[in-house]
Amino acid sequence: MKRPLHILTVIGARPQIIKASAISRAVAGPFAGRITETLLHTGQHYDANMSQVFFDELGIPQPQIQLGVGSGGHGQQVARMLEAIEKHILTLGPDLVLLYGDTNSTLAGALAASKLHVPVAHVEAGLRSYNKAMPEELNRIVCDQCSTWLFCPTPAAIANLEREGFSSMPSQPPTIDRPQVLLTGDVMYDNSMHFARLASTRTSGVVQDLGLRPEGYFLATVHREANTNDPDRLAAILESLLDAHKAYDIPVVLPLHPRTRKCIEAHPDASLRTRIAAAKHFHLIPPAGFLDMVDLERNARLVVTDSGGVQKEAYFFGRPVVVLRNETEWVELVELGQAILADTDPTRIRAAIDHFMHHPVPKVPALYGD
Ligand code: UD1
Ligand code: UDP
Repeated sequence: MKRPLHILTVIGARPQIIKASAISRAVAGPFAGRITETLLHTGQHYDANMSQVFFDELGIPQPQIQLGVGSGGHGQQVARMLEAIEKHILTLGPDLVLLYGDTNSTLAGALAASKLHVPVAHVEAGLRSYNKAMPEELNRIVCDQCSTWLFCPTPAAIANLEREGFSSMPSQPPTIDRPQVLLTGDVMYDNSMHFARLASTRTSGVVQDLGLRPEGYFLATVHREANTNDPDRLAAILESLLDAHKAYDIPVVLPLHPRTRKCIEAHPDASLRTRIAAAKHFHLIPPAGFLDMVDLERNARLVVTDSGGVQKEAYFFGRPVVVLRNETEWVELVELGQAILADTDPTRIRAAIDHFMHHPVPKVPALYGD
C-alpha cells in the first residue's frame, strides 16, 4: 500500500490556527489514511485567548510540536523559529510543508523548508498590498518565491503572481522553479460557514452577555503594527469610534488584540482612556473566541477593521466594512462597494460609516469560491 503523504503544517498566529482547522478537518475526514499531518506551533501567539481557545473550540488536534518562541523583534522572532523549524524538518522528513498567510511564522517556515529542498504549499498565495512598509508584504513575497504549490484565493491574487513572472499554466511535476499556481477560493469561507452553523446551536456567548441586538452595534478590530504602535494613528481610530458611537447612539464592541491593549494602556493621552471608560456601551473586551467572533460579525450593523480576515468574514455575512487602511489585499470588496478604505483619517472614517448607515450594501456575487 502507498505510504500516506506526510504534511508538516506550520502555524503560530491566531488566523493561521483558525485557517488550519479547515485542512485538519479534511485530513481527519475524507483524506484519512492518505494524508498524515504533523502540526507545529511556533508560539508566536501564546495567550490562551489568542491560541488555545481555537484548539478547544474548533476541534483542531493539539500540535505535536510547540516551539514556544513568543514575542520579539521581527529578526529575533524569525531567527528563533527558523532554527527550530529546520531541526524538526530534518528529524521528521515531511513530504511537504504547508503554510498559511503572511506572518513571521509563515516566513520562517518558507525559508526553513525551501533551503532544505522540501516543497512548500502556500495557502493565501498571491495576495499583495503593494506596501512593503507592512511586515506582512515581505513575508508574502518571500513565501510565494519559496513555494511549489501556490493556492490563490482570488483571480486578483493569480494576476498579482503573473505580474511577478509566475505562470498559471499546469506544471508537471511542480517544483520550486516551476511552481503550480492554483485558484482554490478561500478556506475561511468553508470555516465561516461551518462554524457559523455550530455557533447557532449555542444559547450563550458574548452577544448575549453584552445584551447586543441584531444589527444594533458596530464591531471593530484594530491590531496592525502601523495602527497601534503609532499613538496618533491609534488615537485617530479610537476618537473616530467614539464619535460614531455618540452620533448614532449605538454600542461599539472592540475585542482587543493584546498588542492594542498594551498600546492603549501606554497611550500618552490619558484623557482618551478616561473618555473610553466613561462611554456607555463602548465595550473593550478581551480577544473573542472564533464562535463568539462569528456571532459578533454576523449580527453587527457594520464592521470597522484593519484585519484581513475580518474584512472577508464581514462580507461572508453580508456586513459592510470600513477598512482602517489605505489599501487592502481584498480589492474585490472595495471594487464592489462592500468595503470602503478610510485609513485612519477621522473624516474618511465618519463618511464611510455615514454612507453604510444610509445605503444598503450592494448584492455581491460569491467572490471566494464555494
Ligand atoms: C501578527 C502578524 C499579523 C497578523 C496578526 C494576527 C507578523 C509580522 N504579524 O501580528 O500579520 O495579522 O499576527 O493577529 O507576523 N502579544 C501578546 N500575546 C500574544 C501574542 C502577542 O501579548 O499571545 C503581544 C506582544 O506584546 C507582541 C505583540 O502582541 O509583541 C505583537 O504580536 P506579534 O505576533 O509580533 O504580531 P501581531 O500584531 O500579533
Ligand atoms: N478573530 C477572533 N477573535 C478576535 C478577533 C479576530 O477569533 O477577537 C478571528 C477573525 O474572525 C479572523 C481571524 O481571527 O478569522 C483574523 O485574525 P486577525 O484579525 O488577528 O489577523 P489578520 O486576518 O489581519 O491577519
